[in-house]
Amino acid sequence: MAKLFEPYTIRNLTLKNRIAMAPMCMYSSHNEDGQVEDWHRVHYGSRAVGQAGLIILEATAVQPQGRISPQDLGIWEDAHIEGLTELTRLIKQHGAAAGIQLAHAGRKATVDGAIQAPSVLAFSDQYKTPVEMSKDAIQETIQAFAAAAKRAADAGFDLLELHGAHGYLINEFLSPLSNHRTDEYGGSAENRYRFLREIIDAVRTSWEGPLFVRISAEDYTVGGMTSEHYIEMAKWMKDQGVDLIDVSSGAVVPAKIDPFPGYQVPYSETIRTGADIATGAVGLITSGLQAEEILRNDRADLILIGRELLRDAYWPYRAARELHTEIEAPAQYSRGWTF
Ligand code: FNR
Repeated sequence: MAKLFEPYTIRNLTLKNRIAMAPMCMYSSHNEDGQVEDWHRVHYGSRAVGQAGLIILEATAVQPQGRISPQDLGIWEDAHIEGLTELTRLIKQHGAAAGIQLAHAGRKATVDGAIQAPSVLAFSDQYKTPVEMSKDAIQETIQAFAAAAKRAADAGFDLLELHGAHGYLINEFLSPLSNHRTDEYGGSAENRYRFLREIIDAVRTSWEGPLFVRISAEDYTVGGMTSEHYIEMAKWMKDQGVDLIDVSSGAVVPAKIDPFPGYQVPYSETIRTGADIATGAVGLITSGLQAEEILRNDRADLILIGRELLRDAYWPYRAARELHTEIEAPAQYSRGWTF
């Protein structure tokens, strides 16, 4: 059997295969209230029917001022729990596990009012200049992540991912390019890590299940973070009970990236080997063979598929055929027919 279709156990959760839908913002909460709408129900439900083992919901805002756009999905108040519960029910009834990415956009937020960041540095000319977060604001945000984790548990999610990548708030603290603070939240790697450390500890008080952190393992800029730098932080994460590092890259500062198939896989491999922690590989992975190569060569433990699952909600069936593996289809598709 192809390794891609072997079950994979993380903590108390067993995924039916190693295919995860990567978190992808849909900007479809049209009333600007962060609520689940029909789009989300159809979109996520289809990928569950399509046999992804894990579906990670898009970046979901832990505070309204932390939204990438006003149409972002939200988890900043209890009123969001009902809609999210409906989504976990829809996802889980087809045998997929339901995950959610908790996010705060920091200086990349595009909402009314002041935006927050570790330092007074705009991402680019097209972005607002943020306000430097006070220690009180830092603590409030940490508590917002913890409250969101509690709501995620109430809504029936199986797994949490903290969005520490792509130049959003957590990433802004981690990278020296966006964090120029002189207090205990800036300077050394240990200090830049402190914000994430406190979020992980706070989230762990209300969340016992699998916990992933997505990072940008390469800043593509001199003086920025590399996957080698992240080995140390990944070890700290492991010590704190993080189960898997989801290894992405870029976007903390505007830098030119030249993506090619599997371009982020070496970063996953470096962190997996260097910190002895499970990793997820993501980025231009589009075929079953490519996924199988990554898993069999121990370059990652989980394969995250983004755009290819937007093009084809049923990609896992296609990958299974490519890898000569039979997988179970929903009864509706297989009754009386060889699928
Ligand atoms: C993304 N991506 C992304 N990443 C993330 O961590 N949180 C998010 O909410 C989003 N939103 C998002 C929306 C859309 C429409 C796309 C296409 C991408 C990045 C995504 O998870 C993935 O890392 C990249 O798309 C690279 O993988 P693929 O698409 O090459 O498989």
